[in-house]
Amino acid sequence: MSYEFDFADRVQRVEPSATIAISNLAAELEAEGKDVVDLSVGEPDFDTPENIKQAAKDAMDAGEVGYTPSNGIPALKEAIVEKFEADGLTQYGTDNIIVTPGGKQALYEVFQSVIDDGDEVCLIDPAWVSYEAMVKLANGSVTRMSTADHGFDLEPALDELADTVSDDTELLVVNTPGNPHGSVYSREALEASVTWPSNTTSSSSPTRYTRRLPTTTPTRSVSGP
Ligand SMILES: Cc1ncc(COP(=O)(O)O)c(C=O)c1O
Repeated sequence: MSYEFDFADRVQRVEPSATIAISNLAAELEAEGKDVVDLSVGEPDFDTPENIKQAAKDAMDAGEVGYTPSNGIPALKEAIVEKFEADGLTQYGTDNIIVTPGGKQALYEVFQSVIDDGDEVCLIDPAWVSYEAMVKLANGSVTRMSTADHGFDLEPALDELADTVSDDTELLVVNTPGNPHGSVYSREALEASVTWPSNTTSSSSPTRYTRRLPTTTPTRSVSGP
């Protein structure tokens, strides 16, 4: 039996994820016995650590299976604040923390909270495929600035970024280490992009939903759908 759904416009605007399409194709080819090197969906190459599995089991055994506060279990939020403090990010309290089931959910919520109809979002290309889908679901519009001519680095592309981002830009998305290229942007590039637009006459600046910069730069990246 098949059903014809009249999907909402915002759903029809979104393209299926190219990453998932490649991953599904790779799985099909593998099932046919082909030798496939699948570089699509990225996941950690280790099992969930034992202490985490045990903590999840202990919580279930203790009956902690009901609804939690919608923005996160207080003890978890306190642990996150402590982790931030250990990383040198001392300005956050539990009021600044929302726990979500994954980064994708957190980003989706940010986009939904910030983008109004037609608002412009600037993506630094190549960009993680989900950003565009999230903009479209929020009925925003995308502008792009490519780092391809700069070895996928941001610092040499800052002038182009300043030319691309304008008064009409509501949100600038800066992702480091970058998916899909894995580039780690320099501290200088990140500071320039969060303090932008210092070199324009703009009276308003794009919304900055940035993490404060840690004192050390992460060196690993895992890409995914
Ligand atoms: C750049 C980027 N942001 C966010 C996410 C989503 O992370 P999560 O798996 O925690 O939802 C991914 C996952 O692939 C990603 O590549």
